[in-house]
Amino acid sequence: MKRFVDLADFRRDEVLALLDLARSLQAHPQPQALAGKILGLLFFNPSLRTLASFQAAMARLGGSSFVITPGEGSWRLETRLGAVMDADAAEHVREGIPVLASYCDALGIRAFAACKDLNDDLSETVFNAMADLVAKPLINLESAANHPCQALADWKTLDDFAVPQNGKFVLSWAYHPRALPLAVPAAVLHMAAMRGMQVVVLRPDGYALPRTIMDKAARAAAVAGGTLQETSDRAAALAGAHVVYAKEWGATAPYGDAEADAHLRSTLRDWCVRDSWFATTRVDCRLMHCLPVRRNTAIADEVLDGPRSIVQHEAHNRLVVQMAVLHQMLQGV
Ligand code: CP
Repeated sequence: MKRFVDLADFRRDEVLALLDLARSLQAHPQPQALAGKILGLLFFNPSLRTLASFQAAMARLGGSSFVITPGEGSWRLETRLGAVMDADAAEHVREGIPVLASYCDALGIRAFAACKDLNDDLSETVFNAMADLVAKPLINLESAANHPCQALADWKTLDDFAVPQNGKFVLSWAYHPRALPLAVPAAVLHMAAMRGMQVVVLRPDGYALPRTIMDKAARAAAVAGGTLQETSDRAAALAGAHVVYAKEWGATAPYGDAEADAHLRSTLRDWCVRDSWFATTRVDCRLMHCLPVRRNTAIADEVLDGPRSIVQHEAHNRLVVQMAVLHQMLQGV
């Protein structure tokens, strides 16, 4: 494996093999598998899970890692092509990224959406320009419109809790005080569709997922024998659900207009997931969220601290599946 940037780049049987490898590494650790290998981690945005779990994954396989956070202990990096660099950035990614890649065996990059131009973000303009500079194996640590490591961990989590392959998966918008990127909803939607689930996107008006994201997921659902719907009808969406996956994202109509978005979401405080949301779901319905989550804003304490929440297991699976990605990418190379 040379690149892990989008789960959609892999066939379903390849994802299942990767999940088998993850389970195998979990049951039978290989503490020397990546001895002598180095992972570089370049974070343009904050992280708790991705940063810690990738470092831990390399260490557990006998390798090591280094972390660069531009502007925090290292030079601020410019990403715009053709920029006149007379402001804060001391170095351009065109120099910085090849240098970093030359020090390691694989490089991971996190670069969130700018959340200004929807087409730019959906086209992954910034991430792809940086990816073109990496001659080594590359991992997407969350780009403008994708988070494949989260999606893979979520697939394993569904398997771990024996959620049926064709179970009802509700991806529900949840309240946040400001607009967040589309990366996780897009990646998780695709994962559930590719798994063959009955997928429902539940969101208020103004927050419909972009057509390109929905069409891509619909194609994956068709291949896997699943279904895909989108609705703002909470009661209909939640009825019979096996899983509620809560996630916050910014308004897509309008996109990138913080004032209009703030006005739209000012009436949506009741999109905080509470116990009452589970009145008509399956009794054993699970609650998932990629974390970080704002308590009593996106999800109430009563749900996060209750038995249906599997967010801790989900976060732990980041470590497990990323060991599999690194193993497949670097072992024997
Ligand atoms: N879910 C996730 O990617 O968490 P971090 O932003 O903390 O890495």
